[in-house]
This record gives sequence, structure tokens and C-alpha cells, in this order.
Amino acid sequence: MSTFTDTSLTRVAIFASGAGSNARKIIEYFQGHPQIIIALVVCNKPGAGVLNIAADFSIPVLTIEKERFFRGDAYLPDLQKAGIGFIVLAGFLWKIPSALITAYSGHMLNIHPALLPKYGGKGMYGNFVHEAVIAAGEKESGITIHLVDGEYDHGGTLFQATCEVVPDDTPATLARRIHELEHLHFAPVIEKTILSLPGVNR
Ligand code: GRF
Repeated sequence: MSTFTDTSLTRVAIFASGAGSNARKIIEYFQGHPQIIIALVVCNKPGAGVLNIAADFSIPVLTIEKERFFRGDAYLPDLQKAGIGFIVLAGFLWKIPSALITAYSGHMLNIHPALLPKYGGKGMYGNFVHEAVIAAGEKESGITIHLVDGEYDHGGTLFQATCEVVPDDTPATLARRIHELEHLHFAPVIEKTILSLPGVNR
């Protein structure tokens, strides 16, 4: 894709459909960054918290709908027009169509709130993940940041960090601990990944 050859600035799209706390941390981290700019927020859910965050930082939003995403052009022309060279999935629940997987191969990351390959796959999101971890009596959980391929929560793992699961944890208390890890690590891993791509100036 031609945008990958622009060595001066990588334009990043954040795909998110939830509260957007990770999106906020990422946007804050890259404010004023000399090589990486958060150029677009892509969202499929009207009213999602992430839309307010995008507005707070004056970041353009692309609102997407199912039919065109899955059975049309997957919004690839819009992403190309916006010069997007890298995609970050931060709480985005739809499966990524193959047109985007192919166009952004090696240029798309996801964060998952557990230690993959355990507790991943279709339906494993949000509190369902933490409920499963607690029900299995795990002593440890954590986060996984991985490249995106054609399967849910699959693709090469780039980073994991762990935290304890304590005896009286609920999904909510564990989720808080996991969010702290996500907020600490996601943006620096994105930065490191982008800066190590071929053709990006370091
Ligand atoms: C995060 O826990 C992330 O791991 C998962 O979705 C959640 C998004 O949370 N993929 P937020 O919207 O960033 O607060």
C-alpha cells in the first residue's frame, strides 16, 4: 500500500466501539509525536464513549455499518484516502474482513484482556473473559497485544504482561487491574511496533 512508503509520518486509525479508555491513553501518548499521529477513530456504535474522546481531541471519526464492512469494500478506500498506514483495535468486537487483513498485514494490532491463547476467540470479550478466568481458578491473568490475522484473538503475540488473580476477585475488580496494565503498556508497544516497521524512519 502506498501509504506504507511514507517514511516521515505514520497515520494510525484506532478501531473502537466501547468506552474508549485505551483509545484515550493512546491518543494522549501520541500527542505531538514526531513520527506517529492518531489520525482517525473508526467506530460501529452510535453513542459509544470513544466518540466523545475523539471529539475532545478533535480526531475525525469514521462511523461504519455492517453491510458495507462485511459485504462491501470494508471501508478500505476511506482508510486509504485518510492515508492510514497502521490500525489499532482497542475494544473493537467485529471480525476484521479479509480485505483489511490483507491490506494491513503486519500493520494491525489488537489488545486482549487475558493471556492468549487461553480465554480468547469468538464471544470472549469484556467481562466474559474475566468471568471465565475466575471460574477456572486461575492465579494469574494479564494482557496480550498481538498482530491481527483472519481469526479472532489470533496472530503473532508481541507482548504480554501479567497480574495476580486474588481469591475474592470479581470480574469488575479483575477488569480494573487488567485495564491498568493495558493503559500502561499498549501505547508504548504500538510505538515500538510502528517504529520497527521497514520503511519507517527511526
Ligand atoms: C479492553 O479491555 C481491551 O482489552 C478489549 O476491550 C476493552 C476495551 O476497553 N479488547 P476500553 O473501551 O478501551 O475502555
